[in-house]
Amino acid sequence: MLSSKMEKALNDQVNAELFSAYLYLAMVAYFEDQNLSGFAQWMTAQSQEENFHAMKFFSYIHERGGRVTLESIEKPQFTWASPLAALEAALAHEQYISKRINDLVDLAIDEKDHATNSFLRWFVDEQVEEEDHVGGIVQKLHMIGTEGGGLFMMDRDLGTRVFTPPVNA
Ligand code: FEO
Repeated sequence: MLSSKMEKALNDQVNAELFSAYLYLAMVAYFEDQNLSGFAQWMTAQSQEENFHAMKFFSYIHERGGRVTLESIEKPQFTWASPLAALEAALAHEQYISKRINDLVDLAIDEKDHATNSFLRWFVDEQVEEEDHVGGIVQKLHMIGTEGGGLFMMDRDLGTRVFTPPVNA
């Protein structure tokens, strides 16, 4: 059984993951508007992945006998100064989500809630990947610049991403 404090913290994370999906959907719209369909495809997959994360928390709350409560999802920013600025914002957001996951782990340890601590381990590893993937794109954009042929090639590369739910999750 979850403590009421843990139940609230996990519900807040459902909201944070749904906000992540919403923020990345706003980036899809921005990239489509910039005629960068590959960037838009990459962010579509990213948004779908965030919905998957939200549902993982949603299911876990129920598995532990808790009650899911859905709150309003904050309106996301919807325009950026450049594709690089949008990706930098995505990286900053992932760093924020990593901190939230770490705070949840701290709470699970404080409460001696071993089941939740074990459940969160998947997210700790996932956040390492998330920061690495987005950070890698930011680094490449810094190298190639955000104009001309480099941006075109990057758009083509990013357009190959498809989200498939991980089998070990
Ligand atoms: Fe659900 Fe990108 O963290």
